[in-house]
Amino acid sequence: MKLSSNEIRKRFLEFFKERGHAVLPSASLVPENDPSVLFNTAGMQPLVPYLLGEKHPKGNRLVDVQKCVRTNDIEEVGDNTHFTFFEMLGNWSLGDYFKNDALNWSFEFLTSQEYGLGLDPKKLYVTVFEGDENAPKDSEAYKIWEEIFKKVGLIPEERIFWMGADDNWWDTGDSGPAGPDSEMFYDVSKDGVNIKNKEDFIAADSRQDIIEIWNDVFMEYEKKDGKVIGKLKNKNVDTGAGLERLTSILQEKTSAYDTDLFVDIIAFLKANTSEEYANCILNFRISADHIRAVIFMLADGVVPANKDRGYVLRKLIRRAIAKMTNLNFSFDKTEGLIDVVIDNYSEIYPELSNKRTVIINEIKKELKKFKRTLDIGMKEFEKLINTKVKNNNIKEVNFGEFAVEPIAVNELSADDVFRLYSTYGIPIEVIKEEAEKNNICIDDDGFKKKVAEHSKKSQTASAGMFKGGLGGDSPKIRALHTTTHLMLAGLRKFLGDGVTQAGSNITEERIRFDFTYPEKVDREILDKVEGYVNQVINIGATVKVTEMKKEQAKKDGVTGAFWEKYPDVVKVWTIEDGAGNIYSKELCGGPHAENTSDISKFGSFKIIKEKSSSAGVRRIKAILQ
Ligand code: ALA
Repeated sequence: MKLSSNEIRKRFLEFFKERGHAVLPSASLVPENDPSVLFNTAGMQPLVPYLLGEKHPKGNRLVDVQKCVRTNDIEEVGDNTHFTFFEMLGNWSLGDYFKNDALNWSFEFLTSQEYGLGLDPKKLYVTVFEGDENAPKDSEAYKIWEEIFKKVGLIPEERIFWMGADDNWWDTGDSGPAGPDSEMFYDVSKDGVNIKNKEDFIAADSRQDIIEIWNDVFMEYEKKDGKVIGKLKNKNVDTGAGLERLTSILQEKTSAYDTDLFVDIIAFLKANTSEEYANCILNFRISADHIRAVIFMLADGVVPANKDRGYVLRKLIRRAIAKMTNLNFSFDKTEGLIDVVIDNYSEIYPELSNKRTVIINEIKKELKKFKRTLDIGMKEFEKLINTKVKNNNIKEVNFGEFAVEPIAVNELSADDVFRLYSTYGIPIEVIKEEAEKNNICIDDDGFKKKVAEHSKKSQTASAGMFKGGLGGDSPKIRALHTTTHLMLAGLRKFLGDGVTQAGSNITEERIRFDFTYPEKVDREILDKVEGYVNQVINIGATVKVTEMKKEQAKKDGVTGAFWEKYPDVVKVWTIEDGAGNIYSKELCGGPHAENTSDISKFGSFKIIKEKSSSAGVRRIKAILQ
């Protein structure tokens, strides 16, 4: 059955809607109130508070198609199954149905010709968790699959395989909801695989003759600081299926780059480059993947920068430009290329066309900046080649028993390569190509080591920075979060209602808060904001949450950013005293302190820094001490 990607999304949402699930719009790629990740990397990420036990305003059965970004496997992008941006189909049970319905519905949706995807059960294989010190063997899931396969006349032992935690345990990191999962694989080989046992299964998987298409996670455990600490309040189901992979199977293509998700983008690249597709598949695919990701990020408000998510965005833009340069892309056609991506997706994601001007301007700005960077970087590169490399950095290479004597080669050291890469911003692909043109080797292993060391350093830093973030909910985090609401109310009181939240990142140690304002805020004003926040902390005002229709909340003047990302019914947090004075009324998912007196335990509020974050956005660092 050849289904369009639109039809797959539609059928998926419809199937679960009919089974009592509320359809949610995709949340932004930028996580709100979850500093533990830079981007939403799975459908469940925006739902973490609800998986941990908060009540979701739309009920306990949810379904959506979520925009995701993953860059951890960026080196694999361009093969048949990896993308930096992708869409994940997901359905959730928050303490409602569990393994039986989850697995039966997954199978029914995957295989129903009439209203599902019409996949062939004979090509389906599944894995279940074999158990470890954290959780027992998932015999329940095994039995359910046994029944399912028997019913369609297939031998369960040739279909269901036990696997360990590396394959069949899911969590988002050191803290949060977790659990064993059951993965579904589909035979995509040309002649059909002949799997009889686990060994065959593993071999077929490593040949990519079968690919993972669906994952059902049974989230009943909670992890903290890397350890499972017990069971969650609810037994939840979290499922995920990559739209790109399903689309390639249903459109009978070996890769999603050949499906309707990408064909127009690649066709445009082909029409405006001088290289042959067949000779430069990776360059074409990576360009298409990155430009798509970049457009979605920009539409969700990410701005190119030198760190955090802005850095990821800048790196993707630069990688795309480097790949497109290899293809001799006519950069005067950049706007046309952007339009192709926007047109491809704007029916499903109207934010793309709404942000068209911003997207085009930012990409053009980066293109210009990158060209300038490259000019400077390339001059430095030339200098290195002419002085250091050719004169003193000659390395002798011995090819062992085949060599009569060692040969001399010019080599660029790992330090120099890393400097060109990190200080001058030249993508490694460009460095390698340039080096090759000049008959120079680069110390690639040394360079990779340096990148790993560097990213380990910043990972450790960010793990520390994000420790105890809102992904968790310690009393201190709750206190800081409530303080953030008071601070925003104070900023609006003294700087006007034009001030809105542009980002928030809370750790046990501090609040980092971005807000819109065109210029530096005087210390005098910051003192006033501090005074306001401390006054409310000392009053002991109550923090209450109510649910209301989004439209009503807007009418009531509730403070909020990203309105469009919230469901129809929203949570509104009000901070008020016994006399009916309201100090803050804000749209938010929680969690919060119950009373502002819970904040005073941690000290009084202090703004320690105020500086520019990006154009039109200021950043405050504040603490309780
Ligand atoms: N959260 C699970 C995944 O991303 C479903 O695979």
